[in-house]
Amino acid sequence: MVKILGIESSCDETAAAVVEDGQRLLSNVVASNMDLHVQYGGVVPEIAARSHLEVITPVIEEALQQANCTWDDIDGIAVTYGAGLGGCLLVGVMAARTLAIVKNKPLYACNHVEGHVYANFITSTPLPGYVLPKQPPAFPILALIVSGGHSQLVLFRDHFDYTLLGQTHDDAIGEAFDKVAKVLGLPYPGGPSITKKALKGNPQAFTFPKAKLAAKYDFSFSGPKTAVLRAVQELCGKDHTFPSFKLAELLSEPQKADIAASFQRIAVETVADKTIQAYQEYAPATVIIAGGVAANAELRRQMSERLTAIGAPAVTYTDPKLCTDNGAMIAALAYYQAQHHQPTADPYTLAIEPNLSM
Ligand code: KG4
Ligand code: ZN
Repeated sequence: MVKILGIESSCDETAAAVVEDGQRLLSNVVASNMDLHVQYGGVVPEIAARSHLEVITPVIEEALQQANCTWDDIDGIAVTYGAGLGGCLLVGVMAARTLAIVKNKPLYACNHVEGHVYANFITSTPLPGYVLPKQPPAFPILALIVSGGHSQLVLFRDHFDYTLLGQTHDDAIGEAFDKVAKVLGLPYPGGPSITKKALKGNPQAFTFPKAKLAAKYDFSFSGPKTAVLRAVQELCGKDHTFPSFKLAELLSEPQKADIAASFQRIAVETVADKTIQAYQEYAPATVIIAGGVAANAELRRQMSERLTAIGAPAVTYTDPKLCTDNGAMIAALAYYQAQHHQPTADPYTLAIEPNLSM
């Protein structure tokens, strides 16, 4: 049995978890500093970094305690070294480096976006309240990775053998949810707020344009996001000179609900369209959705319905608590790095890579 402690601090969540053999979740502790960012409508990097610093030690201690582990039980330490906010990554990486030296454990450097995919390899837990996939996804895997910082379609032939099929040219889909929520005066993070508001709205009320791009599997979300702003300005009888943060006060609740539902429909359709198209081209054994936006019920519904309609296997996704940022996905990824003899990191020199790509 291999137990790995995973540490994640790339954005606004300070997280640590212990995962056994890359599949059994023994603990999962996430301290979100989201509340600190609500008043700004988005993550403020310096505030996030300071908050990581304050809570990282207790978060790690709690992850060990929840897993009933002492340091002697831990076989390795995994940490996100990119992509993410520099000051935030630094806190997790320095903590992991220090612990690897002091506790004499191997150190695994993990790519955050790959980590989101590996959340889907976690299939069991003694912890209450998790709905997990029954088995790990089979290769080849078509992975739609949709979060606040990333929107990518990736084909995994095997562990660590993958091709990036497409990605966003501008905003990530989660970022677009967050920005649209801000225009509608809905609280940060925008994904869950828009989902909630959309329940009362008509998804056909507005037709926001889907971006058309030359590259088959690339995305763009800045167009639909700007279309929402223009529609709101028109509804309110204001032009671009009117402060956008004051527009929401002029909208009725039903108008907000219709815009939320219509935007959500377009955003979800955009990523679902490309995923279905890629499924038809590559015929993977499994389709998974990963990242914070994979928690979106409308995305899950559309993907399931459309894949079933073309005779494809059901889409795989995991518990919403493992879709958004967490340490468990990092620990799961590191297990496979070890299994596949990927080099471990040097605890004396491991550097952060804020712009790390896949
Ligand atoms: O994966 P994640 O926690 O962080 C990044 O790696 O970016 O994703 C956070 C993003 C935020 O933009 C948030 O608005 C979005 O995921 N999100 C959702 C939902 N829950 C979180 N978007 C749509 N629907 C949701 N239910
Ligand atoms: Zn993430």
